[in-house]
Amino acid sequence: MRVLGIETSCDETGIAIYSQRDGLMAHRVHSQIDVHAHYGGVVPELASRDHVRYLRPLVDETVAASGLDLVDIDAVAYTTGPGLLGALLVGATFGKALAFSLDRPALGIHHMEGHLLAPLMETPDLQTPFVALLVSGGHSQLILVRGIGDYQLLGTTLDDAAGEAFDKTAKLLELGYPGGPKIAALADHGDATRFRFARPMTDRPGCDFSFSGLKTQVLTEARRLVKTNQLDEQAKADLAASFQQAVVDTLVIKCERAVAETGARALVMSGGVSANRLLRQTLRSLETSGIQVAYPAPEFCTDNGAMIAFAGLMRLSHGQIDPTLAMTIRPRWPLSELPKVS
Ligand code: KG4
Ligand code: ZN
Repeated sequence: MRVLGIETSCDETGIAIYSQRDGLMAHRVHSQIDVHAHYGGVVPELASRDHVRYLRPLVDETVAASGLDLVDIDAVAYTTGPGLLGALLVGATFGKALAFSLDRPALGIHHMEGHLLAPLMETPDLQTPFVALLVSGGHSQLILVRGIGDYQLLGTTLDDAAGEAFDKTAKLLELGYPGGPKIAALADHGDATRFRFARPMTDRPGCDFSFSGLKTQVLTEARRLVKTNQLDEQAKADLAASFQQAVVDTLVIKCERAVAETGARALVMSGGVSANRLLRQTLRSLETSGIQVAYPAPEFCTDNGAMIAFAGLMRLSHGQIDPTLAMTIRPRWPLSELPKVS
């Protein structure tokens, strides 16, 4: 079975073809960073319009790169939610119409399930149950995965998501958008021990997160430096490095806790923040206690079509399809509401 995946939940148009036999055959991502950078964040209406503009050419490009024809596609998987309403509508309408025109089944996919299963593209032999750390612009969650669609939420953020904390902190340091990669790049030249920021909620039991206080701590420190005329480039790099270290330490402490509490022997990480190099390196430390650690290549950590095609394949190959042509998108959609695949 070959599945065409379509991702349009936010500011990336992602298209991919994933084959049950041959794996990932081709994929393309068009990023809208340039469209939104000027505004310091994603402008929903501009996102929808850009998806309209790029979907069709990207599908053509991806199909051509795979060496297939559109008629060789067996099914279409598209992101149903969570995400921006207009952006989701564009991908869903396009995906369902394409499937209908080819007389193939379509299936709506949960964006976070796409992230959650993405590590399995490269590490299919992962032992279940495993713990998944999902860290993106909209989510920070720890989930126990017993099987596809069998997800137990272990912890979530009480305020900002990890990616949101990176983005907001970058904004207040005037580093631009999106903040994660900007902070990470600046942190490479910084001293992570210069400022001691909190590791929020690590002194309390449980696996929940809270990141909004960290950003306030950075702001307070930055204001103090401005007052004394010390907020130079080095100080900014030290702030970025100290902030990044605090987020990474917090995430890793909670991962260790989740693994210990559930008895899981494997841990995966996914979502945009999992592209962070320090986080990737630090999480590997769990391997010394015999825990299998897996995460996707950086290009499959941020939004992409491959993860949607792959999650689609996992479900479509078990007979799940959209029952009707009717369009349902779910801008808000808890992972726990997904059906199990047996
Ligand atoms: O998964 P994603 O592409 O989109 C959402 O579904 O949210 O994640 C985007 C988030 C943004 O907040 C971005 O700043 C963050 O991932 N991000 C990073 C890095 N690359 C992207 N955060 C930290 N370090 C990075 N290298
Ligand atoms: Zn995402």
